[in-house]
Amino acid sequence: MEKLVALCKRRGFIYPGSEIYGGLGGTWDYGPMGVELKKNIKDLWWREIVELRDDMVGIDAAIMMNPKAWEASGHVEAFTDPLVECKVCHLRFRSDKPDEIKQHIESHKGVKVDWTEPQQFNLLVKAYLGVLEGKQSELYLRGEITNGVHVNFKNIVNSMRVKIPFGVAQIGKAFRNEITPGNFVFRSREFEQMETQFYIKPDEAEGKKWFEYWKKNRIGWYLSLGLPKDKLRFHDHEPEKRAHYARMATDIEYLTPWGWDEMMGIHHRGDWDLSRHQQYSGKPMIYNDPETGDAFIPWDIETSAGIDRSLLFFLMDAYREEEKRIVLKLHPKLVPVKVAVFPLLANKPDLIIKAKEIYRNLKINIDGLVQWDDRGNIGKRYLAQDEVGTPYCVTVDFQTLEDDTVTIRDRDTTKQERIKVLGLLEYLQGKLS
Ligand code: GAP
Repeated sequence: MEKLVALCKRRGFIYPGSEIYGGLGGTWDYGPMGVELKKNIKDLWWREIVELRDDMVGIDAAIMMNPKAWEASGHVEAFTDPLVECKVCHLRFRSDKPDEIKQHIESHKGVKVDWTEPQQFNLLVKAYLGVLEGKQSELYLRGEITNGVHVNFKNIVNSMRVKIPFGVAQIGKAFRNEITPGNFVFRSREFEQMETQFYIKPDEAEGKKWFEYWKKNRIGWYLSLGLPKDKLRFHDHEPEKRAHYARMATDIEYLTPWGWDEMMGIHHRGDWDLSRHQQYSGKPMIYNDPETGDAFIPWDIETSAGIDRSLLFFLMDAYREEEKRIVLKLHPKLVPVKVAVFPLLANKPDLIIKAKEIYRNLKINIDGLVQWDDRGNIGKRYLAQDEVGTPYCVTVDFQTLEDDTVTIRDRDTTKQERIKVLGLLEYLQGKLS
């Protein structure tokens, strides 16, 4: 993990938040490579979940909401973790995380540690809105991105021609006052989620069917992007472990260096959210089925994935130390840089003109980032590109000027082949798709 954190900083994936001021616990900034990787994850997700389906629409709801929405959703009352304080050093921990408690006791090296009684600590982050001091209203930054979808249920039904079963997809930031942020971006206080709320008929058999459907669908997506089968598993939650809104809940877990841990959740939320919003807002959340004439409050099967966690696990899985290099063997659809173009030498105008021409053509036509690099020698450029996972490096050399061919170097095999410039774009597009 330390090596990955160092690579992420060195190569512009992730930096500590507000670093020059000593940081801000539980916040991270994504650098130029990190934003590309994150964008690719989000774009692939949106493409599959929204654009390629007929039963899903998108939304981008406000982060700041009327605070009543958080009372209705149960978060003001029940979005809590059990907090204990070490009476020796006054650091606070989650009492439901035995490994973290054990680690802390060990850090006191034999000094007896006493703990306060566990108290429920609310994770919602408070904010204040309004220009007049004293008249500002207190609100919450959203603790999950879900609420903005449910409060718009009727708007979506009325404005779009959607029919149950249908889903609403959203990507956006969420904020939690985590007691112990840690493990890099695994648990932070500001993070990003990608979620679907899939509305179905209120029926036990339908609920089970769609819950199973979304479990398979989501694990399939991670497998298709290269995470290995033996490092992914489902973890069903017992009733006492479920969030306050969930009738059924399963996590997709990844085998991390610290053991199996949660990557995303699939939740059967029943009619919890819509019923509560109906109750608290006084506005009906009834769906009128145009085919059967039935009127009901739908049930919701949710898929909720942390983007930062997905990104971290993709990086962890891709990280390899080989004899002479560190390489990120990321899936080509995820990589921040799709292709790098090198002129063999930076001080030969003929080479530069030809390489720039090839570079511009690839830059315009390849879907994703294409990078130019003319610093140092070719070997160093390969090593730098390996560390960000660039699958193909194209080198323009003196032979290019004679026969219009270039070399393409493959990240995984490190082998080079010569191909005609004429077919270069199609070749790369084929490899990257
Ligand atoms: N809407 C349901 C929901 O938010 P959750 O299990 O609390 O459910 C869903 O969160 C996902 O969001 C988690 O599986 C994880 O990937 C991500 N997540 C939650 N808390 C996080 C945190 N503090 N830092 C990074 N990611 C987090």
